[in-house]
Amino acid sequence: MRPSDDKLHAAIIMDGNGRWATARGLPRVAGHPAGAEALRRTVEAAPDLGIRILTVYAFSSDNWQRPRTEVSALMKLFHMYLRRERARCVENGVRVSIIGRRDRLPTMVLPEIESAEKATVEGKKLQLRLAVDYSSREAIAAAAKKLNGHATRDRLSAALGGPDVDLLIRTGGEQRLSDFLLWEAAYAELVFTPVMWPDFQASDLAAAVAEFHSRERRFGAVPKVALA
Ligand code: FPP
Repeated sequence: MRPSDDKLHAAIIMDGNGRWATARGLPRVAGHPAGAEALRRTVEAAPDLGIRILTVYAFSSDNWQRPRTEVSALMKLFHMYLRRERARCVENGVRVSIIGRRDRLPTMVLPEIESAEKATVEGKKLQLRLAVDYSSREAIAAAAKKLNGHATRDRLSAALGGPDVDLLIRTGGEQRLSDFLLWEAAYAELVFTPVMWPDFQASDLAAAVAEFHSRERRFGAVPKVALA
């Protein structure tokens, strides 16, 4: 499932909220609302840069290990974000969906997810996929289990449901995938930036997309020039 060039699938590991806040003498959790603002800016900028699908890592299944106060602040923020951004998403043709487990999320978040998904279902400009309580290893294991011994590459891709990732960006200076879209990003171009997520601007997204277009994607084949 390789998307065409005019249907770029970008994925972002939004890292650096805590350090951004600490550097300003603020409690770590203060970085997350600033991160939500950065996400709003990114969603607004993405369609004009040719991005049609945007998958962002909002909460990994390993993030449950964080202090209870931080987890609770994040869940409240997801609730608020979904409620606050719903109308704007409808207006701007953004279709929202959530990937990841839902059974461990606080009950207050579930109606907001369902309502945002339902209200934005007709959105054609951008598909925004929020990964919440998401683990790529778990998703792959669940897809394989569903296929019951009949897994092939194509069937697993279909069972996972998301298209292949073209461009994967990680902010915050770390250079790892942290259990995010491991299958879907098999041939993704990786862009790592030291910019902390709350500081991430439309210009940073544009720079990552330009970097993506400057690379030759060979998918394991030889360079085009070698065939001439
Ligand atoms: C990583 O930064 C960020 C998260 C674990 C949470 C991501 C959440 C947001 C960007 C908030 C907005 C999202 C939505 C969907 C409203 P970190 O806290 O690990 O930062 P650090 O590496 O500096 O500690």
